[in-house]
Amino acid sequence: MLPAEMDRGFFIVLEGIDGSGKTTQAARLAAWLRDLGREVVETREPTDGPWGRRYRAWARGELEASAAEVLGFFVADRREHVETRVAPALERGDVVVCDRYVASTRAYQAADGVDRALIERHLDSPDLPQPDLTLWLRLPVERAIERMGSSATERYERAGFLARVDAEYARMGLDPIDARGDPDSIQAELRRRVGEQLPLA
Ligand code: TYD
Repeated sequence: MLPAEMDRGFFIVLEGIDGSGKTTQAARLAAWLRDLGREVVETREPTDGPWGRRYRAWARGELEASAAEVLGFFVADRREHVETRVAPALERGDVVVCDRYVASTRAYQAADGVDRALIERHLDSPDLPQPDLTLWLRLPVERAIERMGSSATERYERAGFLARVDAEYARMGLDPIDARGDPDSIQAELRRRVGEQLPLA
């Protein structure tokens, strides 16, 4: 399938460090788009498939793997996710709202010390549709850690690491959405940005 053929729908991605609130915002955005009559596929990476489960086992400390191997988990998970869910939805003309995608790999795996050129080689595939819109919810690391509280138990959920992830997101030239405000204003800003690009009834 050519990338142009996968492009009939609209592909929205939410990004941000752990604790930035994107999961709740993604769900509200999807509900709003449905109310406006759009077919919406709400999804996330890592998935609950075999590669996503392998990542989670590593994140909980149940499995040892190098940073390059963890990159491999995300790449394999994404290949399967795109093939089974994202590409078919875009082909049908649906809106896809995805919690994390390629920018997470660029940010987290670079923060974990993987060579940026190696990451790019893995992401350079005609089979990976480009997001139409990447919404980066930016929250200061201390606030994110505070929000996660005692649920922050995974390997990546540490202040020093998340500060590096934030710096990697900042390199990408995305226009940040200030995630410090109240959830309703953040949601309003997300809707405004989507409305600028997606014709809505
Ligand atoms: P998260 O959205 O926090 O899900 P969960 O509720 O399962 O913790 O994502 C899991 C982690 O995976 C998060 O710390 C970011 C990381 N991640 C990467 O390091 N690279 C990637 O390519 C993706 C998609 C996620």
